[in-house]
Amino acid sequence: MNKKNCSLIYFNEFGEECSAEFSPFEYYNLMELLFDKYIEMWGDCMGKAWCGTCHIQIIEGHISEKIDIEEKNTLSKLSNVTCESRLACQIPVTSALDGIIFRILKDDGI
Ligand code: FES
Repeated sequence: MNKKNCSLIYFNEFGEECSAEFSPFEYYNLMELLFDKYIEMWGDCMGKAWCGTCHIQIIEGHISEKIDIEEKNTLSKLSNVTCESRLACQIPVTSALDGIIFRILKDDGI
């Protein structure tokens, strides 16, 4: 049996609080995790950091994964970018995500 031992909280595009359970490395990235189980129509470029539709804002917790140049470029083109903005497709699913809280920022992407 595959027991989930980590969880996170997010606020969906309607502002509703939701939670997700996961095991480290169950998915390649955070976008895939949420798209597979919880969210429809997300991640237009399928994780290439090109479209910006997987835009999130970290509310609590810290993502140690650095923002690379591709992610930085895409974020800079979004109208509702914040200092805590990230692209979920660029965040690996590790135990470091256990307990984080973030908000999905609805954006039409680029
Ligand atoms: S899925 Fe397109 S930027 Fe993340």
